[in-house]
This record gives sequence, structure tokens and C-alpha cells, in this order.
Amino acid sequence: SSYDLMIINGLVVTASDIGHYDVAIKNEKIALLAPTGSLAGIEADKVIDAEGGYVMPGGVDAHVHLEEPPLFGKGRSADTYETGTRSAICGGTTTVITFAPQSKDRTSLLSVLEETHKKAENNCYTDYSFHLLLSNPTPSILNEFPNLRNEGISSLKIYMTYEALQLRDNQILDVLLAARKDSITTMIHAENGDILSWMTDQLEQRGLVEPKYHATSRPQLVETEATNRAITLSEIIDTPILIVHVSSPSAATHIRNAQTRGLPIYAETCPQYLFLTRDDLDKPGFEGAKCVCSPPPREGKEDHEGIWLGLQNGTFTVLSSDHCPFVYEDAELGKKSVISAEFPLGRFRYIPNGCPGIETRLPLVLSEARLELSKFVEVTSTNAAKLYGLYPRKGALLPGLSDADLVVWYPPGRLEEWRVRNEELHHGVDYTPFEGRVVRNWPRYTVLRGKVVWERDGVGVLGEKGWGRFLRRGVSSLGGGSKKEAWDVERF
Ligand code: URP
Ligand code: ZN
Ligand code: ZN
Ligand code: ZN
Repeated sequence: SSYDLMIINGLVVTASDIGHYDVAIKNEKIALLAPTGSLAGIEADKVIDAEGGYVMPGGVDAHVHLEEPPLFGKGRSADTYETGTRSAICGGTTTVITFAPQSKDRTSLLSVLEETHKKAENNCYTDYSFHLLLSNPTPSILNEFPNLRNEGISSLKIYMTYEALQLRDNQILDVLLAARKDSITTMIHAENGDILSWMTDQLEQRGLVEPKYHATSRPQLVETEATNRAITLSEIIDTPILIVHVSSPSAATHIRNAQTRGLPIYAETCPQYLFLTRDDLDKPGFEGAKCVCSPPPREGKEDHEGIWLGLQNGTFTVLSSDHCPFVYEDAELGKKSVISAEFPLGRFRYIPNGCPGIETRLPLVLSEARLELSKFVEVTSTNAAKLYGLYPRKGALLPGLSDADLVVWYPPGRLEEWRVRNEELHHGVDYTPFEGRVVRNWPRYTVLRGKVVWERDGVGVLGEKGWGRFLRRGVSSLGGGSKKEAWDVERF
């Protein structure tokens, strides 16, 4: 027959257009978009009637931690590549970029990549790629950057905090200079590790160790200072950076000012900074540990408003989940991983930092209806594809060019609003920090390269692990770095 799949009667939303179109798919690609009704009589193996629901490019989640060693505290990863990417498709995400972690003793980046490939290969429900997570930028490691590019990796993440990962400013400059030479985008976790360690020690000395003090130990200033410093380091080298998981409106203001000056500063935020507050860390017993992430959820409504504003006005390039799944009740250990006899309620210092959210990212944010529909697609899919060298294969619905990755939502108002419940999610985590939040829509179908991988009504997961493929990435198609003023010692 002429098409493999047609999706008819949808309201098609991309980052650039909204319209009533029918979509035809052939050989895993978008083949055709045509005005609603105009494909009547054309043959297809399968037809989905969207009944007026939104049809969008599949979500691209560019910040996902799966099967990592314990770098951010004491816990065990609760998701494998299999369970994490399964959860993704049930929430409308068809591409994930996870991290290939270099622990400090590793002297070959290629072997780190190879190891990560082994975990992912034949296990993924989504298409996938990796950012290198760099912890020890020795000269020989930096010399491997061209190899990364040959392997289809065009981004890396570095940290200004965490004992196992923190780089000094001179090391960050080394990384940025090498990244500039090979057109690699550097992601930076911007929190001042020295200040927050010092504050943590001070709190511990007073016996203030419950989960809520995690937030006390890293106030907004800790993030704002590091964000400003990251911007400065990028400006010195004149190379693009992306500040990951921005939580603080004051950090966002520094980012916006830098962008206004024409600097190639990109930024990411996450649902936890739109929905959670520090009060979520202040729960009876150890429950607050479920919302411990870094940076921490901020004080209240005004902070959330500042982050929404940054999404609306373009300060934030992408909205990712920072899905970082840890087991709460560890069945293998027979207890929570940070509980000890001496500290029966645990110490926040050892709580693994990170929340799950790969499946709830799109529904939670769409349900708030705070973003224009095209802006929603831009920050949850298209911009991530552009920034990380996947566009227009991902993040778009361009006939002949884009993979047939789609989310079909229910027609607005079709579902009664309901509350998120962890038992209805598909990850391996035994909780969600978004338990009880109201949602008004959910992906009804998810399509990956022309194959329906999720059908919510009466069917569930249809995809198979291993259908997801590794994506070789090119360079960022967003702007960055004039190189005129850049530091180049050969100029002097
Ligand atoms: O708390 C967080 N964000 N955990 C994940 C690790 C990271 O820094 O992204
Ligand atoms: Zn309409
Ligand atoms: Zn981080
Ligand atoms: Zn992260």
C-alpha cells in the first residue's frame, strides 16, 4: 500500500506551525503533511484518527541519567536503559540523551563510551545518544575529543560541584578550549561546590541533617554565583555552553543578560523547578528525601513564576526531565540506602541527588497551559534536537527529512482531570515526586520511526526494547561563538 501509517484529523503543532493536517508516514519517515481530509481514499496499512487532538513531534529529553554508578550520593540507580526508556515512550518522549560517565580513574573516553553502548544496545524503547560526563580532563583525555566526534558524540557535561566530579576553573577553561576546537557543546552544572560543602559541614556540626536541610545548604546565591562564573569562563573562550537544570530566577537573570550581550549561553530548566518547593523536602520521617535534587526546589510561587517567564521569553532553550532515578526502599539492602544505626533518619549529605520524571515531563507541563503550544514543542523537543545536533531528523515533522516520531494527545477536554499516581507510571522507581499533581491530558499514542510504541487505551506498551537505535549526532545548529575575541594564545 502507499503509506505505512496515517494520522488523520489532528491539530498538528510544531515549533513553527499549527494547523489541521493529516500526516502520512512511509519507511520510518514523515512522508507528507496535507490539509485535513485530503488523504481520504488514500491507502495505508494503519490509520489513527486523532479526533482533533494535538499531534506533535516526539519529545526529546536531553537530560537523563540511566544505569550510572553512584556519583551523586549513596543510592542505587532504579532504572535500566530498558525501564527508563519504556517510561519515556509512555509519556510521549521518543529520543533520550543519557550520560556516559567517566569516573576519575578512567583514562580512555572511548572505553567509557563502549561500556555505555553495551548497557543501551538492544535495550532501548526510544532512540538514544549519550553526552560524555567528564570528571578528569587530563591532557590525554582532552586529546580524545576528536574521537568523540568520530563516534557521533557532540556534547559533554562538567560539574562545579560534587566531590567525585567537581572541576576547578582552570580545568573548566581547559575543557572549554578543547571543546571549542572540536565544536563540542559543553553542559555545565553550576553550583559552587566549595560553598555548599562548607554550609553542609556547618549544618552537620549543629546536627541539622534531615532532608530539608539539603535546600538550606545550597541557597540561590550558590547557583547564581556559579552561573555567573560559568558565563565568564565561556566568554573568555568564546564558546557555547548550556547551563543545565536552572532553578533560580536570579541565575536566569544572569543568563538573560549574557544572551542580551550576544553571548552563546543556552540554558535548561526542569519540571521540578516549576512544581516543587523546599516545603516538599520538609515531610514527616524521611519522605522529604524523595524530592532531594540539585539545585534544590526553591522557596515558592515567585520562584516558579520566574522560571515560567524564562521559558516563555526564550531564556531557557530546553526543558528536560533530569530523570535521575534512585530506589527509595531498597529491597536488596532491606532498608533505605542512606539509613544507618547512628542516623536512623539518614543524613541529607548522603541522599542521592535526583528525581525521576521522564514520563511525567510532557503531561505535567502541557497540563498547566502556561506555554504557547509551539513554544511547548520548541522547548521539549525541537530546541534539544537543534542544540545537540539531531535536527531535523528529530524535533520536526519535515517530509522526507524527519523521522516519523510523534505524540498524539487526547482531544482537549476528552479526559477528566486526574492525579499522577506512581503505580500508573512505567519507570523502575518506587515513587514519583509529582504524586497527586493534577494532569489534564496524556499521550494517547506515541510513534517512533513509524511504529506505534504506546497506545494508552486498553493496550499500553506496544514497542519492543531494541527498536530504539543509537543516534550519531552532528554539531549544534544553534549559533555560538564568533571566535574573533576568543582566547587564542597564538595571537599574542
Ligand atoms: O540532583 C540532580 N540533578 N541529580 C542528577 C545529577 C545532576 O547533577 O544532574
Ligand atoms: Zn482548530
Ligand atoms: Zn547536574
Ligand atoms: Zn542531571
